[in-house]
Order: sequence, then C-alpha cells, then structure tokens
Amino acid sequence: MVPTNAKNFLLAVIVTTACYSAPLGADDTIAADNPDDTSISALGDADKGKRTFNRCRSCHAISDNMKHRIGPNLYGIFGREAGSTDKFRYSKALSEASFIWTESKINQWLTKPSAYLPGNKMQFAGVKKEQDRKNLIAYLRTVTVEQD
Ligand code: HEC
Repeated sequence: MVPTNAKNFLLAVIVTTACYSAPLGADDTIAADNPDDTSISALGDADKGKRTFNRCRSCHAISDNMKHRIGPNLYGIFGREAGSTDKFRYSKALSEASFIWTESKINQWLTKPSAYLPGNKMQFAGVKKEQDRKNLIAYLRTVTVEQD
C-alpha cells in the first residue's frame, strides 16, 4: 500500500507535468472551444475595454460593413473560423489555422500573438495584463456580436 503522502505527491507531479507540457494555445477544454461561452467577458468591464481597444483601433474596424484596415474587420469574430473573412489577405499561418474564435482563444492570442500562432503578421506585442484582456473581450462582446 502506498502512503497517502506519496500518492498526493505523485498526483501533483502528474498534474503539473500535464499542465506544463501543453503548448501555449493548446486548450482543449469544452469551454475553450465554445463560442457562446462568456466566462471571460463576464469578468471584464466593457467600458474599460473600450479604452484598451484604442490599441487595436488603428488596425481593426469592428462594425458590420466596414472596410478592413491593416487587420481584418472583427465584426462577428466570436464563432468565426480563424483567418476567414472575405477580402482580407491573411498570412499563411492564420489562413491555414483551423479553429473557431472563442473568448478563450482570443484571450490566448492577445496575450502574445507571435507565440500563439508563429508566423502570423499581426504586428502587436500583446496585452500583458490579464484584467485588460478580460475588459477588452467584454467590450468586443458588446460591439462585434449581432444585436437583435
Ligand atoms: C499593427 C496592426 C494591428 C494591431 C495594433 C492589432 N492587430 Fe489584430 N490583426 C492585425 C493583422 C494584420 C491581422 C491578420 C494577421 C495574419 O493574417 O496573420 C490581425 C488579426 C487579428 C485577429 C484574427 C482575426 C481573424 O479573422 O482570424 C484578431 C482576433 C485580432 N487581430 C484582434 C486584435 C485585437 C483585439 C487587437 C488589440 C489588442 C489587435 N488585434 C491589434 C493587425 C493588428
């Protein structure tokens, strides 16, 4: 019989290894792949996020029918296939990516785009503070989702 302490230790090692071996971006929890999951925007302040979006605004439009800028229009981004808007020339990295944008994926992308999808052409270092990303995602939820 293995003493409980040893068991807990082993369990901790297994859990830690499993977490650290996952590459950045490989988040396969169900919520991470669900575009309707709002668990990140729920923790954000959209008004503050609007200010954070000033860091994106020069490159991204966010309203329906607006032209792409240096980056693609982000209207309808949640639930959209990565690298899939019409009339925007994506990098190979983004056009060949096959995933749907969810809050979790956008959160990871914005942490450090160059690490999330090497070879992409978004010239942006990232939004370092976790709370800033939550606020920003809350703002994107309010403006890029079709209102009915
Ligand atoms: C200097 C210009 C620039 C800035 C600043 C910038 N982006 Fe981008 N963004 C781009 C470009 C260019 C792409 C397309 C990248 C590619 O094709 O590899 C992109 C792609 C994206 C995508 C993927 C879109 C899709 O259709 O798959 C998201 C989401 C995104 N940006 C969000 C943001 C947010 C949010 C910010 C602000 C925190 C931001 N970007 C700041 C230029 C920029």
